[in-house]
Amino acid sequence: MKLPLRVTVVEVGPRDGLQNEATPLSIEDRVAFCDRLSAAGLPVIEVGAFVSPGWVPQMAGSEEVLRRVKKRPGLRLSVLVPNRKGFERARAAGAREIAVFTAASESFNRRNINATIDESFTRFAAFVPEARGDGLRVRGYVSTCFGCPYEGAVPAERVVEVATRLVEAGCDEVSIGDTIGVAAPTQVSDLAGRLGEALPVTKLAVHFHDTRGTALANVLAALQEGITVVDSAAGGLGGCPYAPGASGNLATEDLVSMLHGMGIETGVDLAGVVQASRAIEHRLGRALPSRYLQAGPAPGQGDGS
Ligand code: HMG
Ligand code: MG
Repeated sequence: MKLPLRVTVVEVGPRDGLQNEATPLSIEDRVAFCDRLSAAGLPVIEVGAFVSPGWVPQMAGSEEVLRRVKKRPGLRLSVLVPNRKGFERARAAGAREIAVFTAASESFNRRNINATIDESFTRFAAFVPEARGDGLRVRGYVSTCFGCPYEGAVPAERVVEVATRLVEAGCDEVSIGDTIGVAAPTQVSDLAGRLGEALPVTKLAVHFHDTRGTALANVLAALQEGITVVDSAAGGLGGCPYAPGASGNLATEDLVSMLHGMGIETGVDLAGVVQASRAIEHRLGRALPSRYLQAGPAPGQGDGS
């Protein structure tokens, strides 16, 4: 089996996880969550979103979160930005990495950011060149790559087209999102293969929601196509407020446990991720869905780190 030696885990729990929680968390709790994830060795953490607080109140105050998170050497902190106003907020808060987002289906994009796909690119053109000029790293997300909650099936060509446009617009990396967790591994292999023909595979990342239990199988399919950057959320927190039925992201514990079990390095300390998830479970007052969090380490395997 062709597999990479190392995978970069992008922790999106503080953003993609908490954006969908009914219980609002204090800035202190959000900062503490990020600091615990950082202490666990996660190399990249998406700490918040500079979106409209009217649309997503859970992400209000992301400036303060970004400012207060401990800046461990080598740690990359990223924030979600939908438009120029969001970029200005991110810049004022000292962001060095931003992530823009659009979709492969028009209906989802309209509900998520009140814009057509073309309009989202017009918005990006108003700040991405400047962000790059300031030396910021820019990630791009494509949502609904494997299916849309409003339109159903999404053609693979459409995903390749949007991902290519994001790279042309200045994105260093493009994360391919299964927003509502409908992808099957064969579909991932097919799409990753097509994307790999259009773009360098080093620019690709995958972002699976685990709604129907296929996220880990989908990761394996992506790794076999040469993709080595994988998004996940501690505890399996998550969901998109504008994607009905979208439940948690792939859990960081489950991802790291599987990768370590296959001998793939991540630099992540699983016990540390578990601590971060336990603390946030306590704050949210509900059990999180991560299988590893529920089961613990395999007998005789320590914490799997
Ligand atoms: P709009 O209403 O069309 O925009 O929203 P607008 O320009 O007319 O602005 C409306 C109000 O919002 C104005 O305030 C603006 O100033 C303000 P008012 O004059 O009414 O007082 N505003 C802002 N405030 C703070 N920061 C900003 C900002 N922009 C405008 N950046 C907008 C358009 C994009 C703002 C809105 O639709 C929005 O914020 N959407 C965010 C939706 C969101 O966060 N979704 C979840 C993240 S995406 C996701 O989860 C998918 C992903 O995980 C991948 C996957 O799984 O597929 C990434
Ligand atoms: Mg997501």
